Amino acid sequence: MSGRTLEAYLHEFTESSGAVDANVAQTIRLFAEAAVRMRLAINDGALGDAFSAVREAAHAHGDEQKELDVFADELFLDAARRARVSFYASEELAHPVALDRSSEIAIAIDPLDGSSNIDTNVSIGTIFSILPSKGDEAATFSQPGSAQLAAGFFVYGPQLAFALTLGRGTSVFVYSARLEAFVEAYPQMSIQETAQEFAVNMSNYRHWDEAVRHYVNDCLKGVDGPREKEFNMRWIASMVADTYRILIRGGVFLYPGDCREGYSAGRLRLVYEANPIAMLVEQAGGKATDGTSRVLDITPKGLHQRSPLVFGSSREVEKVALYLSGSSGT
Ligand code: AHG
Ligand code: MN
Ligand code: MN
Repeated sequence: MSGRTLEAYLHEFTESSGAVDANVAQTIRLFAEAAVRMRLAINDGALGDAFSAVREAAHAHGDEQKELDVFADELFLDAARRARVSFYASEELAHPVALDRSSEIAIAIDPLDGSSNIDTNVSIGTIFSILPSKGDEAATFSQPGSAQLAAGFFVYGPQLAFALTLGRGTSVFVYSARLEAFVEAYPQMSIQETAQEFAVNMSNYRHWDEAVRHYVNDCLKGVDGPREKEFNMRWIASMVADTYRILIRGGVFLYPGDCREGYSAGRLRLVYEANPIAMLVEQAGGKATDGTSRVLDITPKGLHQRSPLVFGSSREVEKVALYLSGSSGT
């Protein structure tokens, strides 16, 4: 084991910088501690306190809410409070929580991503975004993703892993139980430019519009089709796990809008899902769009607004944009 610990990495980051960076670093430290606790709770699985049980009242925007979603939310809210951030906006809460209004940073978070996988022992995770605080909640969370100061996600999988960007590349850390610390396993991730794998929920095929079907059809045709190469398909239904795979070996992820009720902008939320993933992917040399335009340039109109999302290997994301803008040439 040769990598730096997360602590050493954060120390280096704050050495030559100011109070805002120190606040960012302290938030990341406390989130990393929360993730270790989260992982312990997940490890108990069915032996634990019925964590996968569905809560009676779904949260404000209608998605099903599980006990483990709420546990994760409370854990990371507590960490944010101790980190002295200004506002904490969560998928699990209708409105942001005001904490320390004098702080210059705010959090947007998906405390538990992939919660349909809890019972099935498949990887789940936590995604977060750190934004500059702009005085009030509305101004803070309507900044485009390009304003993010940092972004990251934890994957509670075979390894407890942590992908982090502070705006100077993306690093991946793995938790060492022996050292009781996150250790940098991949400094400066670089997503390969071309993709051999696509990730999409194929069961939505009939709900997609013609351009999305056209793109996927051409992938499925393999070497005999216009793309002239074989594609493999993966869909974990935990975006954190799909993103981790794409960081490691390239590929493209698509959650387009479709014609089901409520899905015209897909499923994923802009502020606490698409934006942090887009920043991590771009900082690793990949691209992230809403199908045609850069995710990080979108100005959010609401905290829980959805956005279609396509990200991964840069050349493949560009290819998708050609299909979706009607100029694939095939
Ligand atoms: P969450 O558990 O926070 O609601 O997010 C689940 C997301 C994402 O992780 C995954 O890629 C996608 O929803 C899966 O959606 P489908 O079930 O429609 O495939
Ligand atoms: Mn999610
Ligand atoms: Mn969630």
